[in-house]
Amino acid sequence: MNKLVGLTRNFSSSANLNAIKTVTVVGGGLMGSGIAQVTAQAGQNVTIVDLQPELLDKAQKSIQANLTRVGRKLYKDDAGKVEGFVSDSLDRIKVSTKVEDGANADLIIEAIVEKLDVKQELFNKLDQLAPEHTLLATNTSSISVNAIGAGIKRKDKFGGLHFFNPVPVMRLLEVIKSDQMSEDTYQAMMSWGKSVGKTCITCKDTPGFVVNRLLGPYSAEALRLYERGDATKEDIDIGMKLGAGYPMGPFELADYTGLDTNKYALQVMYEMTKNPVFRPIPLLDKMVAEGKLGRKVGEGFYKYSK
Ligand code: 3HC
Repeated sequence: MNKLVGLTRNFSSSANLNAIKTVTVVGGGLMGSGIAQVTAQAGQNVTIVDLQPELLDKAQKSIQANLTRVGRKLYKDDAGKVEGFVSDSLDRIKVSTKVEDGANADLIIEAIVEKLDVKQELFNKLDQLAPEHTLLATNTSSISVNAIGAGIKRKDKFGGLHFFNPVPVMRLLEVIKSDQMSEDTYQAMMSWGKSVGKTCITCKDTPGFVVNRLLGPYSAEALRLYERGDATKEDIDIGMKLGAGYPMGPFELADYTGLDTNKYALQVMYEMTKNPVFRPIPLLDKMVAEGKLGRKVGEGFYKYSK
């Protein structure tokens, strides 16, 4: 399979896609900037909204660096074409600290902090501000999509669009069907996902959706194996890479996604399912309490130089 499939333009001919020409991403963190990048790469105009101007600066810089990576792969030694690809894509990205500036889009994707009340407040505001036709989506990885949209009127135009980290590289998009999502909204979201180079799968609003529901027990069992002293973390990582073909072992992946994110996802799935496989893991709690959150802080299960 060509690795560039997820990185190049891939316009869909579906009529539904005509509905989505402009996109707003609320939240300029790692996921939000990745979503904005793939949208701009696909030729669509996108606004990134974040309350913190310094996060917007950081997002623009990381998008530029990642677009250059993509451009170099697409156009190899043709520096002019790489530069053109990067600047054309960047020209399609606007940033703002005011949600009002992004409310007039065809699709608004939320990628902010994983807190139910904060997300609900944002969606209630977007529901008031956005034109009637605007579709609203959450990129939540673990909270119930229906709960996030509980206060909005346009429940038929709302659902989950769950991307994976790193967004420009991971080719999957989970389209989460909220209880009252209309067929038109579902088709529009599936077509839009395809238009930004992703392969879409569909899931009901069930804890962890498909991928995190399966990655959760995998990660939890790896942590327990290590906690009991049955094997070293290095050997577990090697085992899963060489024995199961995973690109990263479970400890490398936990460091990559963040131990706090990992702990929160397990906690939410435990609360929602009561499945003991998701029960708290003392080692994970201890590491999070000590601030060993993974790559983003320079130390998790492994140490990283900045
Ligand atoms: N933007 C553009 N391209 C990027 C990139 C980025 N942000 N990050 C990496 N790449 C490209 C590199 O240029 C390279 O391309 P090439 O192979 O064509 O030269 C390729 O991706 C591989 O990158 P690296 O050589 O730097 O590093 P690795 O080979 O170690 O790959 C990885 C890095 C892609 C992260 C790989 O290790 C991987 O796939 N890991 C698993 C990630 C995973 O499981 N993600 C899902 C996490 S769960 C989740 O996201 C759920 C959510 O709810 C939290």
